[in-house]
Amino acid sequence: MESAMADPTTKEKVLEESRRVHALENRLYLSRHPEQTNFFQKSILERTLNEVCADLKTDSEILDLGCGTGYLSLGFLSRGYRLTGLDLSREMIRAFEDSIPATLKPQAHLVVGDAEEFLTQNQDEFDVIVLSAILHHLFDYESVLRKICARLSSGKKLLVFFEPLKQEVQSPIRFALHRMLSWLDEKLYRFEMKVRKIPVLDDEYHHSDYQRQFGGIDPARVREILRDEGLEVLQIEKYCARRYGLHAWLANRVLKTQNTFNLLATRP
Ligand SMILES: C[S@@+](CC[C@H](N)C(=O)[O-])C[C@H]1O[C@@H](n2cnc3c(N)ncnc32)[C@H](O)[C@@H]1O
Repeated sequence: MESAMADPTTKEKVLEESRRVHALENRLYLSRHPEQTNFFQKSILERTLNEVCADLKTDSEILDLGCGTGYLSLGFLSRGYRLTGLDLSREMIRAFEDSIPATLKPQAHLVVGDAEEFLTQNQDEFDVIVLSAILHHLFDYESVLRKICARLSSGKKLLVFFEPLKQEVQSPIRFALHRMLSWLDEKLYRFEMKVRKIPVLDDEYHHSDYQRQFGGIDPARVREILRDEGLEVLQIEKYCARRYGLHAWLANRVLKTQNTFNLLATRP
């Protein structure tokens, strides 16, 4: 990866920072990230889970790499699937484990570790591999994607979800409105966090959000890698995530801006 090679940051440094940041995020992760739980994003999440599960057999095995506190994993568990949830952060895994209802616990297998190392060492077969908001944390996301592809046999799926992408705003007026909405969204968010006494952790994220310094993840590049590895990309959905549902609705329905993407692929 050219850009990463020119950077003195090492994979170990990124992993260390990710562990540190997510130990701080811990149980308050989803409270701190309302952009993942507001009504607009929740409807995208539900629709995506339904689409992915539509033709899955009941005994399917799901692997959620970087599962965090179980944002997507809980949806798969409640639909009856067996799930392996892996995360670098012991604290995030503990928070996830504590939130799983007792009746669903037997379907869940939780592991603490690095995604790339897991893909090299573990040889289990999975029907769906999920990556939700993890690619931008990885030092070499291309290598991880290629390792995932190698694990997917015919009919198996890859879901990339809620990944930040480089914003493309063509009209200057639209861009100004977009900036205003973004400013308002952040102001309200900070006020809410202050009232709820939840510390925001923006300044902690420098190395952990490694790929953001290159503008986020480019879905066109992801598509290229997957095609190169023999996968068929079924859909790419680009949209604008905002802290609050109303702002997300305005950004998508009125301003039509984009800062996030989801992608579904399969091996024919
Ligand atoms: C932004 S959070 C997303 C969590 C969850 N997937 C979600 O969508 O809410 C990113 C997660 O990826 C984990 N992570 C970062 N680097 C990782 C790595 N190399 N291997 C496994 N997990 C990693 C972090 O610990 C964190 O829980």
